Amino acid sequence: MSFKTIEWKDDKVRMIDQRLLPDQEVYHDYSTSKEVARAIKEMVIRGAPAIGVAAAMGIAVGIRSSEAATMDDFSGEFNEACEMIGQTRPTAVNLFWAIKRMKIFFDANRSAGIESLKDLLKAEAIRLCEDDISINRRIGKNGAALIKDGSTVLTHCNAGALATAGYGTALGVIRGAVESGKKVKVFADETRPFLQGARLTAWELMKDGIDVTVITDNMAGYLMKKGEIDAAIVGADRIAANGDVANKIGTYMVAVLAERHSIPFYVAAPLSTIDMTISDGESIPIEERPSREVSHIKECQLVPDGVGIRNPAFDVTPNDLVTAIITEVGVVKKDYKKGLDKFFRG
Ligand code: MRU
Repeated sequence: MSFKTIEWKDDKVRMIDQRLLPDQEVYHDYSTSKEVARAIKEMVIRGAPAIGVAAAMGIAVGIRSSEAATMDDFSGEFNEACEMIGQTRPTAVNLFWAIKRMKIFFDANRSAGIESLKDLLKAEAIRLCEDDISINRRIGKNGAALIKDGSTVLTHCNAGALATAGYGTALGVIRGAVESGKKVKVFADETRPFLQGARLTAWELMKDGIDVTVITDNMAGYLMKKGEIDAAIVGADRIAANGDVANKIGTYMVAVLAERHSIPFYVAAPLSTIDMTISDGESIPIEERPSREVSHIKECQLVPDGVGIRNPAFDVTPNDLVTAIITEVGVVKKDYKKGLDKFFRG
């Protein structure tokens, strides 16, 4: 991969600024938890697994400069960093999963003492980042079998290398299929309002030499009806225990269209995206983002001043519209409740 979404470099957290792609490839270095929290909130980094990695690194980098003299004070600062990062974006459960992993790790290693614990937390955040890449490769392998040679696949938003530590989930499955020698064409929904499809999916697939064509979000039905789309594949921000899937706004629309046209609708996600504490999609918190993302594209205003705007960033696709969920430990089909439960019980 010719770019890194996020990495630990020179004791700072380095991220590519996804707000500026594809026009500019700019990297920022962050050394405090506050800076990383802001980067997550303002979408310098986005995509559920990438947000999880950023959370872990944000906590680890911030606590490095702590001058706490006692473990109680150090623990207090650590918890403050966790709290701040936990306030950034509510929908992607990977954020909370990563914070929990860091908290458990902290507690298990308290006896190491403050200075060693700083290094251990850094190592754990880096490990979480590296794990994410290998998990995505396994998702890619598991999902590749579902993608037929010569097929055209629709994807929504960006569930690629940019949305993860690398390789991607939905785009990981496409990469896996291509690596196994299949010919695959991709339609990328532009994904209004933040344009993750037009800007990010198109950018990273083109860099990899994968055949990608961008369409606006309202074109998918037309192309499905004409028989130009063989399958749809998306990532997820949170999957409930019953298999309901929260993902980028517009995903539900794609799933409904796919069912109407008898096209398989696949979801690719790591186990860290599955929230077994939530029984169904109704209780998944849906982030509402600033109205400016809808009213403007960059500096260009599209909507008259004073007009009401809604900007829910995610929607929930009910499990009955999902053909299969592809994870690093295997592929699950209906009944999702039973299948997902099995993954967690081993
Ligand atoms: O608002 P975003 O860009 O963070 O939303 C991202 C998505 O909805 C992705 O599809 C999802 O996080 C899966 S990423 C592997």
